[in-house]
Formats: sequence, C-alpha cells, structure tokens
Amino acid sequence: MIDIHCHLLPGVDDGSKSWEMTRAMLRVAAGDGITHIVCTPHANDSYPYDRVEHLGRVAEAQAMAGEWPQLLLGCDFHLSYDNIQDALAHPRRYTVGSTPYLLIEFSDFGVAPGVLESVHRLIGAGMRPIITHPERNATLGKNHEMVLRLVELGCFVQVTASALTGYWGDGVRLSTEQLFKRRLVHVLASDAHDPERRAPRLAAARDAAAKLTDGATAMALVEDNPRAVIEGRPLPYLPDPARAGA
Ligand SMILES: [Fe+2]
Repeated sequence: MIDIHCHLLPGVDDGSKSWEMTRAMLRVAAGDGITHIVCTPHANDSYPYDRVEHLGRVAEAQAMAGEWPQLLLGCDFHLSYDNIQDALAHPRRYTVGSTPYLLIEFSDFGVAPGVLESVHRLIGAGMRPIITHPERNATLGKNHEMVLRLVELGCFVQVTASALTGYWGDGVRLSTEQLFKRRLVHVLASDAHDPERRAPRLAAARDAAAKLTDGATAMALVEDNPRAVIEGRPLPYLPDPARAGA
C-alpha cells in the first residue's frame, strides 16, 4: 500500500518530534504493509516550507528506513493567499515528488470565498489538487455539494484512514461514509503524526472501505490510485460522483 499523506519528517511541523519517533513510524508503516510514503510537511503560517531542507531530511529518513518503505517528498499545502501566489510562481515547489499532484488542506475554520477560483488557477498552472480530509473540515465535512464542485473542477479527494475506523468520532465517520456513498473518495491516506495515536496505518481502513464498497475499490484507494499519484499518472479509479439525492 502507498501512503501519500504522512508527517514523518522530524522537527519540521506538528508531526514526528524526533528521529526516534520517525524510526518508530517507519516500523509501524512497514508492519502494516506500506511500501511507499510521501512525507508531507505542513506549509502554513506556523510552519514555513523549505523544499531543499525537507529533501535533506527525506534522504536521512530513507537511510534510516533502508530499502523499504520508499520515501518521497510532498507537502500538506495550506490554501492561503501567500501559498497560492508562491505555488503559481513555482508550480513544482509543493507537489508530490516531481509530479503535478498537490495535496491541499482547507482551513479548519471554514472555506473562504474565492476558494473555487484559487483552485481553478492552480489547475490552470498545471497542478492536480488532491483535497485532504474534507470529512474533518468544519465546512466541507457538512457540505458535500462543495466537495462535488471541487471534484467537478478537477480535484481529487483524500480521506483520512482513521476517519473510517472511528478515531475522529461518529460525526466524522458518518461524513466519511456519506462521501463514499456519493462516490467522492479517490485516495485513503494516514495523515500520520506519530507512531501510536495518529499512526501510519492503512490496512484497517482498507478493510473498512471494502465493507462499504468492494475489495477492488478498497485496493484502488490504497494502492492503484496512490501509486498513480507518486508516478504522476492519471488516476485509474475515477468514480462517477452521485448527485444529491441520487
Ligand atoms: Fe496532514
């Protein structure tokens, strides 16, 4: 399985706090059957994003991991005015590896007006946005019509693995199940921050997704689609979203 959203690198954001913690996260991921991890440090007001520095840490983490899991660099890209301007000027500064895929995190405090326009501009500049954890967002979690509009605009949707297995509570789990019903989920990822509570695991969520859909779809969410992301190819599993009430 391939995890495209993981705060594995130590000391760069609110994820891993030390190399020891990173080592433990690598062990958990490997034990869960994860073969590739995209390291996705935050880029926001609290955590500036330095691609060169992060790449150095990815190389160190890879040396620690050995051959597996294989590591790449991405970004948990906060959708702020400054970030958008910088990404438009440097379209590969924040994407997954050298691909056009860009993980986009919306503000926890809601979705600002003009968001669709901003996302449209990023797509126009050649990026392929993947909206992270709408099920945990104050606005998107309740407004799946907005999620649908983002998908129709050309975005993909990444749901948190642990949202499906109940870590975030019933409200978030139900929102996740609704997103599945509306066929608005393209990738499951861990969004891991540590080796225990928010750990890099996908197997339990894959099994939960298989119950909601079927085995092949669940595998597409943790294997086929995320592999296409890290290889910069079009996603092979592209569900046709269900309209409201359908
Ligand atoms: Fe994250």
